[in-house]
Amino acid sequence: MMKDIQFSYAKAVSAEAVAAYQAQVATAQEQLVNGTGLGNDFLGWMNLPADIRPQLADIQATADLLRKECEVIVCIGIGGSYLGAKAVIDALSSSFAWLEGEKPAMVYAGQNIGEDYLYELQALLKNKKFGIISISKSGTTTEPALAFRLLKTQLEEQQGKEAAKQLIVCITDAKRGALRTLATQEGYKTFVIEDNIGGRFSVLSPVGLLPIACAGLDICALIDGAERMMEVCGIHTPMEENPAAQYAAARNHLYGVQGKKIEMLVNYHPKLHNVSEWWKQLYGESEGKDGKGIFPASVDLTTDLHSMGQYIQEGERILFETVISVEESNYTVPFPHDEANLDGLNFLAGKRVDEVNKMAELGTMIAHIDGGVPNMKITLPKLNEYYIGQLLYFFERACGISGYILGVNPFNQPGVEAYKKNMFALLDKPGYEVESAAIKARL
Ligand code: PA5
Repeated sequence: MMKDIQFSYAKAVSAEAVAAYQAQVATAQEQLVNGTGLGNDFLGWMNLPADIRPQLADIQATADLLRKECEVIVCIGIGGSYLGAKAVIDALSSSFAWLEGEKPAMVYAGQNIGEDYLYELQALLKNKKFGIISISKSGTTTEPALAFRLLKTQLEEQQGKEAAKQLIVCITDAKRGALRTLATQEGYKTFVIEDNIGGRFSVLSPVGLLPIACAGLDICALIDGAERMMEVCGIHTPMEENPAAQYAAARNHLYGVQGKKIEMLVNYHPKLHNVSEWWKQLYGESEGKDGKGIFPASVDLTTDLHSMGQYIQEGERILFETVISVEESNYTVPFPHDEANLDGLNFLAGKRVDEVNKMAELGTMIAHIDGGVPNMKITLPKLNEYYIGQLLYFFERACGISGYILGVNPFNQPGVEAYKKNMFALLDKPGYEVESAAIKARL
């Protein structure tokens, strides 16, 4: 039998403190399962690992086609429409996939409006056979829409309009939005983002799965892992055995009772950098509202011990850490003996590099706890699709529970609109005349 990922709060919070949240966790789980809580029209992610199975063959076939035809696949989207895919692809691909010439190469656009970024991307794609996956639930988000128009134009110029159509896939709302209108008119292949799935909870829908399959990863194993966590973190699993319930309770205790305002997600494998980026959106957008919420931050260790380490060890005591620990590396790199030993490292000879990393992890954890930074730990047996699938669902379920305990609607993001309104007013978008005059008067 496959192992499961494990969660431990023992070095951060007492068992009694976590148990004190039993009733609140039970209420939150009921709200999630019965759809009786705030934002209950956005609970489609709850059963997604089971519900998505009928679509897996179509997603895989579409990915196979793009993989066969394309040297490069550009994944266009922002926020929840790209972070999940990037997190999984980076966690499970070679760190040097580009230099190894892996085909197709996965690149991203629409996650920024950097002119140099887009210029360099267009230059890279010049005379290359590339495909586009354009992802936008609303179909109206400016950043991806801008990137899509630019790259679609380039693709049509390079391949001809009809051939380009075979290389474009859109993932968007079933009926609404400019992207849906365009896809219908042009006859692009499409997948639907269901109304009841918010962007940051969409990684296990076609939004995440199509790019992940395009990168050559096993989406069935990813979904198997997520479905396993659906059971482990479900309403029928008692709190003492339920990692999502415990994580939600422990972080609410650390925030509400101990006054720890910042949670740092910590990894010791650089490939997990973008898992942290995905996690930051999930928790930041879900909980940061109504003047409340833990600020989600992240560090890549041991790298950032040489930059952020000082603050973590001795700065203001408002931090706690959640460490993602990977039990077993996928490869073995033994450290060699050196006759001269000028670097003084012969005490490591014969050990694996991972053993050094593990001792750095353990030593750091002890140092940070000694420094007043509570540490929780999530252990993955190894980095593969199955355990990353488990991790994603664990975090999603815990986020729903945690947000309800905090007393917010974890499934909306009203604050994201403020910058858009100002940007449109400053750019003189039709319909924003009043806002435009008002904001320009403030400059
Ligand atoms: O979580 C969310 O809902 C957001 O981050 C969205 O995913 C992001 O704003 C992109 O929106 P859309 O997919 O509509 O382009």
